[in-house]
Amino acid sequence: MARILPAMASQMIIVFFLLCSFSATFISAEEEQGFGKSLDPKQHKLKKEKLSHFHFFFHDILSGKNPTAIQIVPPPTNTSTTGFGSVAIMDDPLTVGPNISSKTIGRAQGLYASASQEEFALLMVMNLAFTEGKYNGSSLSILGRNPGATIKVREFPVIGGSGLFRFARGYALANTHALNMTTGDAVIEYNVYVFHY
Ligand SMILES: *[C@@H]1O[C@H](CO)[C@@H](O)[C@H](O)[C@H]1NC(C)=O
Ligand SMILES: *[C@@H]1O[C@H](CO)[C@@H](O)[C@H](O)[C@H]1NC(C)=O
Ligand SMILES: *[C@@H]1O[C@H](CO)[C@@H](O)[C@H](O)[C@H]1NC(C)=O
Ligand SMILES: *[C@@H]1O[C@H](CO)[C@@H](O)[C@H](O)[C@H]1NC(C)=O
Repeated sequence: MARILPAMASQMIIVFFLLCSFSATFISAEEEQGFGKSLDPKQHKLKKEKLSHFHFFFHDILSGKNPTAIQIVPPPTNTSTTGFGSVAIMDDPLTVGPNISSKTIGRAQGLYASASQEEFALLMVMNLAFTEGKYNGSSLSILGRNPGATIKVREFPVIGGSGLFRFARGYALANTHALNMTTGDAVIEYNVYVFHY
């Protein structure tokens, strides 16, 4: 035993050094210099860019026992009338029709924050997580400015996506379909246009 072990160890060391010198000769200059390299898009199923349109309704429910958006940071007491500084987190259902009982196709998950001292304008940061059909499991990421009180149709950039929406870019148009001034509950119609592969 005592004699075999050192023999095996020395063999392993020789094999290890052989492997190291072999792989060293095959590493390209590019890989040696960094951690990135260029790829052929066609070999990664990125053949043809498509333009898609999505139409749905977004339900932001603040009232009742099961709100879909909750304020997590209230506005400081003596700031402007715009609620500057407040933050809400949403998990808002997306449906095919304006009625919340119509088919749910996904959820808008993220946050909105009052980010303007001069007028009412929200910072929107959200993922549209689709749950229906071939888009189930894919999502679009939105980052935009929402001056909801002054502009009828707001436009938010679509800055990326996952799954079928890898490399996505585009824009979303948001138009208020119904707003309850007492509760703040809103139904917003969305038209989203995205380039993706
Ligand atoms: C709120 O307003 C009061 C009165 O104007 C002022 O004294 C106080 O400093 C303000 N607080 C903040 C946090 O701005
Ligand atoms: C929404 O759909 C439900 C169930 O189909 C129906 O009872 C209700 O009246 C509809 N609401 C509106 C506002 O159309
Ligand atoms: C969407 O995908 C989830 C997770 O794979 C699955 O559980 C669910 O049944 C799918 N929904 C539809 C409508 O296909
Ligand atoms: C707004 O919500 C309140 C409370 O749920 C309700 O009583 C009222 O009818 C709603 N207004 C409209 C226009 O739907």
